[in-house]
Amino acid sequence: MSLHFPPGFRWGTATAAYQIEGAAAEDGRTPSIWDAFLREHGTHGDTGDIAADHYHRWREDFDLAARLGAGVYRFSASWSRIVPDGKTVNRRGLDFYRRLVDGLHERELTPALTAYHMDLPAHLDGGWSNRDTALRFAEYAHVLTEALGDLVPIWMTVNELYYESWAGYAEGTFPPGYRDSAKAVAALHHMLLAHGLGVNAVRENAPGAEVGLVSGYAPVVAATPHPDDREAARLAHVHTIDVVLDPVLRSRYPEEYRKHPARMAALEATVHDGDLDMIGAPVDFIGLNYYFQRHVVAAQRADDPDVVAAVDPPGDFLNLTRLTEIGAAEVRPRSRNRTMAGWPPEPAGITRMLTDVTADYGPIPILVTENGLPLADYADPDGAVDDPERISYLSEHLGAVHEAITAGADVRGYFVWSLLDNLEWSSGFGHRFGLVHIDYATQTRTPKASFGWYSQIVSTNALPSPSPLREMSAVTREGES
Ligand code: FCB
Repeated sequence: MSLHFPPGFRWGTATAAYQIEGAAAEDGRTPSIWDAFLREHGTHGDTGDIAADHYHRWREDFDLAARLGAGVYRFSASWSRIVPDGKTVNRRGLDFYRRLVDGLHERELTPALTAYHMDLPAHLDGGWSNRDTALRFAEYAHVLTEALGDLVPIWMTVNELYYESWAGYAEGTFPPGYRDSAKAVAALHHMLLAHGLGVNAVRENAPGAEVGLVSGYAPVVAATPHPDDREAARLAHVHTIDVVLDPVLRSRYPEEYRKHPARMAALEATVHDGDLDMIGAPVDFIGLNYYFQRHVVAAQRADDPDVVAAVDPPGDFLNLTRLTEIGAAEVRPRSRNRTMAGWPPEPAGITRMLTDVTADYGPIPILVTENGLPLADYADPDGAVDDPERISYLSEHLGAVHEAITAGADVRGYFVWSLLDNLEWSSGFGHRFGLVHIDYATQTRTPKASFGWYSQIVSTNALPSPSPLREMSAVTREGES
C-alpha cells in the first residue's frame, strides 16, 4: 500500500556552495575559513578548490535536476564571492548567482536559497565570536536579497548554527578552530542575530517570499533509565536544541541555559538590548536537517556498569565540551548497523524530531531541509551506480516523515541531501551523499539507482510501500515512557 503525501508537498534536493562549486579563486572570490582549514586538516588533501566543478558545469547539473523532477532546488550563495573584501560588492559574484537563478526558472525549478552555509569569509576577524560579523552579514544579506529577491521565493538565512558554533569555537573540529566555550556561546548568539537580520533583509527586499532558518536536529535520548542519565538527556535537549529554537520562536533563551553559570557570564558579555526581539522576528517555516546522530547521553558515570554496557566499544565516551560542561557525556549506542559516518540510522528519530517541534512550538510549518546517507558509491564495469542502501535509508526516513504528518506535524516539504556527490567538509570526497555520482577525475555525472527511485516518488507524490527493513525502535523523550 502506498503512502500518499499531502497535495502540494514540496519535493527537493539540497546542496551548498563550498561543497560543489570549486572555482575557488575565480571571478574575484576570496578564501573562506574552509580553504585554509582543509589544507591542514582535510582528508587526503581534499578541498573545495575544484569540488564538483559546479561553477562551470551548473547547466548540466540543472538539466539533471530537471530530469529528476523534484521541484525545489536548495542551494547556498558564497559570501566570499559577493563581498570578497568585506566592503565592495563584486558584480561577477552576484552575476553567477543570477545566472543560476535564471537557469533554475528556465527549467521550472524553484530556487530555495540559503544565504549562509558554513563558508564564512576568512578575513572576518574572530569569525562569529565577533559581533561585527553579524552586522557584516546583514550588509551581505541586503545585497543578496536586493539582487535576487524578486526571483527567489524561498529563503533560508543561516544553516546549522548550533553545530557550527560548538564545533568551530569550542571543540576546534571545524574552522576557525577555537577551543573556548564562551566563544561558542557568543558565536551562536551572533549567528542567531545574523538570522534575525537576514529575515529583515528578506522582508524588505523580497516581500512575497518565505523565509526561515535551518537547524540541525538530533533528538536526545538517555543511555540508561537511571535518573541521572535521564536528567542529563533532558538538560542536553535544552542546551543543544531549545537553545536555537527558543530564541527564534519565542525571543528568549531557555531559562536553564541562562542560569548555567558559565553560559550566564558569556551571555552577559554578548547579548545587547533588542537582540532577542530581532532574533525572534516572525519566520514562515523552520528548516530541520536530520541524519542519524541521535544523541545518546549519559550523566558522567563512566564507571557505572550499566553505562559501560550501553556504550560501544565499552567505555568509549565522546567527551564533547558542549555536554561535559553540563555534566553529561555522549556515547555511541551499540549497533551492528553503523553507517560510514559512524552512527546507526534511526528513522524513528525523524518522526520524533517533527512531532516534538510541533508539540513544543505549536503547528509551525516545517521543511525537512536535509536528509541523506553517505556511501562509498562506485560505478560498475557497465557504468551503473547501484545504491540500494540509500534507497532503503531514504524510504525508511520518508515513511517516518509520513508518520509525523499523520500525527499532525505540518511538514511542507522534504529535500534529499544531496543532488550531487560533493565535498563532505573534513571527511572529504569519500563520503558520497549524491543521487548523482561524480567521478572526480573526469567530472562525469552518473545518476545512481536512487535517482530513478526518488524521481518516481516525486512524480507520484507517494512512497510505494514502507520498506520491510524499517527499524521500529521508538525514540522516546525524557519524561515519557
Ligand atoms: C550537514 C550540512 C551539510 C552536509 C551534511 C551531510 O550537517 O549542513 O552541508 O555536509 O551535513
